[in-house]
Amino acid sequence: MTFSPDELNERFIDTPPDEVLAWFSTTYRGKIVFSTSLGAEDQALLHLIASNSYPIPVFTLDTGRLFQETYDLIQVTEAKYGIRINLFFPDHDDVEKMVRERGINLFYENVENRKLCCQVRKITSLQRALQGQAVWVTGLRRNQAVTRQEMKKVEWDSMNQILKVNPLLSWTETFLWDYITRHQIPVNELHRKGFPSIGCQPCTRAISPGEDIRAGRWWWESQHNKECGLHQPTKPDKHDFSGFI
Ligand code: ADX
Ligand code: SF4
Repeated sequence: MTFSPDELNERFIDTPPDEVLAWFSTTYRGKIVFSTSLGAEDQALLHLIASNSYPIPVFTLDTGRLFQETYDLIQVTEAKYGIRINLFFPDHDDVEKMVRERGINLFYENVENRKLCCQVRKITSLQRALQGQAVWVTGLRRNQAVTRQEMKKVEWDSMNQILKVNPLLSWTETFLWDYITRHQIPVNELHRKGFPSIGCQPCTRAISPGEDIRAGRWWWESQHNKECGLHQPTKPDKHDFSGFI
């Protein structure tokens, strides 16, 4: 049986996240992973995965610049759910070279430096984490950003050559927080301090009431392209899906 991303998207467009996770973890057993930034969406997904014992290993990209609150939540979450969150670190040679040549806080200087840092500290580790996998589960929501409006629940990620599944894509912020409260899911202390979106410590600030939820990410840059390269806009792809499970 072969499925194209478009067929899968059609099929799961109105399916609740637990059923999406159940189907993909059964169909792609041993070839599916979930990436968490330890933000609210990812904690809700992790709760769904762990409390239903779906066989989906969890990983986070530890850039070396995360908040202490995020490390604390990793520990609390592992203890509560009895799981391990696998950490992927950047290549030490690459980090040392970058910092030697451009300085420890290079990202504030220009967009090129910021993108280089994201490449070295996040994207390269992401590629390692996804190597050999068929499905990548994320906590992306459409309402998080203008750049995320066109995303699909199931899509082909041509950069990483992987099927990307976003089970919470259509959840609103209100629904997400109701779900978290109802299920007493542990969340990042940073949310209480005004951080709706969790990233690296030097590149994320708290937002004020009424500000866009991504306003605190790379706040010194233009408001229109708050993406680090982990998530590329969907493009039509010429990939041949014959033989794809
Ligand atoms: S980002 O591209 O701006 O950093 P965002 O913080 O909105 O992304 O998170 C969207 C999704 O990307 C998360 O639900 C998670 O699946 C993944 N993600 C983001 N940051 C990380 C990280 N450090 N480690 C693992 N996954 C991450
Ligand atoms: Fe570097 Fe900032 Fe990107 Fe983190 S978010 S990898 S510190 S530029």
